[in-house]
Amino acid sequence: MTNALIIGNWKMNTSLEGAIALARATADAVQKVGGGVDVGICPPYLWIVPVRDAVGETALRIGAQDCAATDDGAYTGDVSATMLSTCCSFTLVGHSERRSNHHETDEIVRQKLHQAFNAGLHVILCVGESEAERQAGRAEQVVQRQLDSALDGLGYTRLPQLSIAYEPVWAIGTGVAATENDAADMATVIRNDLVSRFGSAGDQVRILYGGSANDRNASSFLAANNVDGLLVGSASLSPEAFGRMIASAVQRG
Ligand code: PGA
Repeated sequence: MTNALIIGNWKMNTSLEGAIALARATADAVQKVGGGVDVGICPPYLWIVPVRDAVGETALRIGAQDCAATDDGAYTGDVSATMLSTCCSFTLVGHSERRSNHHETDEIVRQKLHQAFNAGLHVILCVGESEAERQAGRAEQVVQRQLDSALDGLGYTRLPQLSIAYEPVWAIGTGVAATENDAADMATVIRNDLVSRFGSAGDQVRILYGGSANDRNASSFLAANNVDGLLVGSASLSPEAFGRMIASAVQRG
């Protein structure tokens, strides 16, 4: 069984001093469990390098929350995957806050995915339906559309660089997580899609659940069928809570 993957998405939070302290405490939590889980954090862009330098050579992976859809050039305010690859090992792509606040279409998400792959980054591709889409019974259809756009034409050789996070938009930052059954059902839709595209190689891609995941519900999500990890927002800002989530991932075996 592959290790669970636990990712902390700090969003636009922390001061520089706070970021360094949080990263160090998180690196300590990773060291304390002594393996059996893969853990990454996504600090705000500006803190990536100081955080990386502060944690030094630990097992904690450093990632970005987003990357640009194009390579270096005249794109004011953007940060390319090539630039990120000098200080990060992975990036989120297609987070719902990017899709909604920055009008990122499926096509832009696809371009970002390829930019990140080409730069050698591991990608956590985020997919998930809105509340209205779920109410209308369209949750699977929406996730399927996001997967089709992102994964069409993708070669097998990219699979080791890919993880997928199922994050229902209505569960993000609301304190109302999906049920384990909802998470398992959608993770199974994603798994079936991967296996139908890539055969048994699709089984190697880790599928994460995200959306109000915390230290109280982590174990149940990690026990859900086809869920191989967690994408954690607010709870990753507490080293104690995030540390407990890391420990639950190890206990999962
Ligand atoms: P949350 O955020 O854990 O605060 O709901 C999750 C995410 O946006 O990735």
